[in-house]
Amino acid sequence: MTRTAVPSLTAEDWNDLYASGRVAPRLIGDGERRAAHSRLSLVRGMRAVDLGCGTGKWTRQLAAWGLDTIGLDFSQVALEQACAAVSRARYELWDIDNNATSGLLLPGSVDIVSCRLSFSFFDRSRLLPNVQRWLAPRGRLYILTDVADQHDGQLPPYECAMTEEEISSLGNDGWHVRNMFRLNRRAGIVLQPSGPPGP
Ligand SMILES: C[S@@+](CC[C@H](N)C(=O)[O-])C[C@H]1O[C@@H](n2cnc3c(N)ncnc32)[C@H](O)[C@@H]1O
Repeated sequence: MTRTAVPSLTAEDWNDLYASGRVAPRLIGDGERRAAHSRLSLVRGMRAVDLGCGTGKWTRQLAAWGLDTIGLDFSQVALEQACAAVSRARYELWDIDNNATSGLLLPGSVDIVSCRLSFSFFDRSRLLPNVQRWLAPRGRLYILTDVADQHDGQLPPYECAMTEEEISSLGNDGWHVRNMFRLNRRAGIVLQPSGPPGP
């Protein structure tokens, strides 16, 4: 089963999903917190961007760990809900696939790029070279995804899921897998560029 068969959702679709409450914030368990913090070797003061941040639960977690964090999403409704919660995190509306790179993302300016339950929605042929440019030396890309099983059938289009095959292909094309962990049916993957930063 591949996710390419799933129709992609527009920003308006996501706005409707968030406004109707059909997409509930994905809770962060202690296991996920511990695994991500240690596998990413997080240190206070690091700069992080949370791509596809939704209502900002994970963005706020990164900020609470002392990271200088910006959440980016193309759903205005999600960001309004995110901004309603008290946090040092900042947010910006941005269509990651279609808009020019946000002015916040200068080359070499970010230590952690995070895609929690969002990576499968993005155009990775565009995103991955961009992430290589944004990352500072030793910067890391973090992906948390549900793992799609052939017995799952058609998942709802708002679920972020990748097949085992897609997950194993992440370590190709200029990246290496630095760390990986499993939490029930989710996989956490920490990637680092395998060469020098792009132009
Ligand atoms: C399943 S939600 C995950 C939200 C959040 N990261 C979490 O852990 O709960 C996926 C998010 O990706 C966002 N998204 C999808 N495509 C996008 C794009 N092209 N640009 C920006 N955000 C996008 C959606 O608006 C949605 O908020």
